[in-house]
Amino acid sequence: MCGITGFTGKQPALPFLLQGLSKLEYRGYDSAGVTLVNSKKLTTWKTKGRLSELEKLLEKELPQSCGIGHTRWATHGVPSNMNAHPHMNEEGTISVVHNGIVENYTTLKEELIQVGYHFHSDTDSEVIVQLLDFYYKKKPVMKEALQKTIRHLEGSYALCITTIFEPNTIYVAKKESPMVLGRSKEGTFCASDAPALLAYTKEILPLQDGETAILNKDGLEVFDSKGRPIEPRYITFPYDIQSAQKGGYDSYMLKEIHEQPSAIRETLRGRFRGNQIILPKIEELEIDWNSIYNTVFIACGTAYHACIYANTIYQRYTGKMSYVMPASEFRYCDPAVDEHTLCIFVSQSGETADTLAALKLARAKGCVTVSVVNVLGSSIARQSDAVLYTAAGPEIAVASTKAYTTQLVLLHVLILKLAQLYGIRVKGIGKLIKDLKRLPELVEETLANDKTVKKYAGMLKDEHDAYFIGRQLDYPSALEGALKLKEVSYVHADAYYAGELKHGPIALIEKNTVVIALATQPEIASKTISNIKETVARGARVILITDQDMEAKEFKYVIRIPDMEPQLRVIPVAVLTQLIAYYAAKEKGCDIDKPRNLAKSVTVE
Ligand code: M6R
Repeated sequence: MCGITGFTGKQPALPFLLQGLSKLEYRGYDSAGVTLVNSKKLTTWKTKGRLSELEKLLEKELPQSCGIGHTRWATHGVPSNMNAHPHMNEEGTISVVHNGIVENYTTLKEELIQVGYHFHSDTDSEVIVQLLDFYYKKKPVMKEALQKTIRHLEGSYALCITTIFEPNTIYVAKKESPMVLGRSKEGTFCASDAPALLAYTKEILPLQDGETAILNKDGLEVFDSKGRPIEPRYITFPYDIQSAQKGGYDSYMLKEIHEQPSAIRETLRGRFRGNQIILPKIEELEIDWNSIYNTVFIACGTAYHACIYANTIYQRYTGKMSYVMPASEFRYCDPAVDEHTLCIFVSQSGETADTLAALKLARAKGCVTVSVVNVLGSSIARQSDAVLYTAAGPEIAVASTKAYTTQLVLLHVLILKLAQLYGIRVKGIGKLIKDLKRLPELVEETLANDKTVKKYAGMLKDEHDAYFIGRQLDYPSALEGALKLKEVSYVHADAYYAGELKHGPIALIEKNTVVIALATQPEIASKTISNIKETVARGARVILITDQDMEAKEFKYVIRIPDMEPQLRVIPVAVLTQLIAYYAAKEKGCDIDKPRNLAKSVTVE
């Protein structure tokens, strides 16, 4: 990740590469680089930091008419000059940029080291260029070397390759990571996303999974997964640059809500072998797991809600006691934690001041610290004993959506792993893993409720207040739903355990009060339904989010989530409450991506 550009044509490539990358800047990145090629050599410039830093390294006039460019959002290896793309082979004759994740890169790397290859970065991507080199040296036909290389790659990739051996040609390949091609009278282009091309052409060719392409200055050829030529299929791209940057959605929040299937897929990539959970960073911790007596989950805001969920799951699966605390409280409460305590920190940014301070305190007290973080190399990631990364990609909207659901998923996997390390067998683990793997499709299915959600969310337009209620695992979902609604639509929203209503909050329910009721947990469903009916009896308008089986004839506004293990239902519920918040905010004309008074990363106390 995160941005790729490539150009070969009849004029200097650099202006296109840089302007294309600048049009992809919105996706977030931490380093940038380009390779330009002429008949004698490939020249690469790359640096940590912004595109402006890269531009400082470049001479004003660079005549080369073929090149590739990249902006990197770190996933393997911290942001640094070395880890920035492009990556080159030892002789500097092949240069590669890559988006995606090579799952089996450690195995490939070991095999290549054994046959004499040297690596200079911590990235998964560098194996690609070395593998290409390996095959090209066996038979110097780049198209074949590329086919052989991608056959060995497990995971996702969008690849763009230049080589001194064919100085006007760019090779491209794609699997589960986007890549688009285009052409104009100036030349032929490729990019990881359409906004990079739109200043040049609206005729776009989206490459499909398994396909490869060869670009030269007069045009391009596309090949299927077996390397057979196929007819290029162009489409006229329907959006202007600004809406293309948002993937055609009107806000980053909505785009990021819809990115959840792929964010979850990437987060789960490589985590299972049969019923075995693969988390090498946890396995490498030198700990006597049976000496862990306490576990505390610590975070802020949305990440804290993920912790409330994790706390329940942890107790269910391990049968051990655990605690959950907002970081802003933990850091000041003189917690009774020690070397027998496992502290799990959760943060999208990895820079939240309160969470970082809580982590430092836990370390000072000798606790074992594990973090679940989205931004690679961030402060919380660096300072924890072990870090697990969610693969949500850059989250731009202030309201957290895909970061939250990937946290839920990864925390779930982590807890399954901890149970295994404690020697505890989790009941029904086979079915759980099966449903975890199905989550991307189940979230797609959930998103198909979009129109219904939009209609129901309309009833919040003129409301001052709304209430989210749920029990057991529906309670963190209620908290998160209320936070999301407040944050983006400014409708005051509170969340309650449904069983607690009668102890006070029900006094607030009157005719037409909007109640978003969550009832997805079968073991408590009948109780929750009784609680919901108490609000209906007082005139509430109830939007009921429930499972496939719940008898709900008496309720007018019902949204059903797909069938799945109850422990995982929190994920589709989150998606639906995100959509409710989004549509309520849209109805009210709010600035959805930048809610008032809020910052994306809260780096001050
Ligand atoms: O980067 P972090 O996950 O540590 O951020 C924590 C909170 O500031 C964050 O989740 C905040 O609550 C979001 N704006 C919620 O949408």
